[in-house]
Amino acid sequence: MDELSPNSDVKQVVAQGYDQVAKAYAELENEAPWPRMRWVKKLLQKLPSGSAVLDLGCGSGDPADVEIAKAHAVTGVDISQAQIALARQKVPSGRFLQADVGSVTFPDASFDAVITFYTLEHLPRTEHGAILQRIYHWLRHGGYFLLSTEAGEVEEIVSEWLGVPMYFSCFDPETLKQMVQAAGFEILETAVETQSEGDDKIPYLWLLAQKPED
Ligand SMILES: C[S@@+](CC[C@H](N)C(=O)[O-])C[C@H]1O[C@@H](n2cnc3c(N)ncnc32)[C@H](O)[C@@H]1O
Repeated sequence: MDELSPNSDVKQVVAQGYDQVAKAYAELENEAPWPRMRWVKKLLQKLPSGSAVLDLGCGSGDPADVEIAKAHAVTGVDISQAQIALARQKVPSGRFLQADVGSVTFPDASFDAVITFYTLEHLPRTEHGAILQRIYHWLRHGGYFLLSTEAGEVEEIVSEWLGVPMYFSCFDPETLKQMVQAAGFEILETAVETQSEGDDKIPYLWLLAQKPED
């Protein structure tokens, strides 16, 4: 791993990286469609119209938030200024905050669903448990949590990705599922699905969970 220690340095690497590759990332889904919108549709079937949905690591908001915002109120959080600027263009009805998922806060019980796709692996895994617990508290009882994250086991690494240095850190899928349950969620469905990203094939854990009713 390159020389990186405090989490703030790590966050800077990610923010600066996505500021540079926002457009290239948007063009990565160029062959077989990724599983993302199939999982978004599963979630949308469960949400009454006008639900409050939080997207952590929302990127440009396209395609997930564009679709969700047709019937729901979207709040998006992203650490990259360039991604937030794109999201504000793509989803004019959304509320978008440039902030770190590791420290952003919301009032308890303020969302009906929280989604986070391809993002948790860009935060130090020492933060993952606390983030899952905070998501649990931000959800109303009966609310849904939809997650995807790289299905790997990496303490932390900075490697070149789309021509920039990028930070990755993740638990293996079984450990992460146990952490989701330990936060209080009931897991409804999970799968590991591999998707094409340019010449690479990357496996991701997909997980749909629910905060139990009162
Ligand atoms: C691979 S992109 C995924 C974007 C979008 N969720 C999607 O489905 O395409 C990861 C996004 O997470 C954001 N991100 C990474 N670390 C973050 C952090 N600590 N706080 C907020 N956003 C973060 C990046 O800026 C980037 O836009």
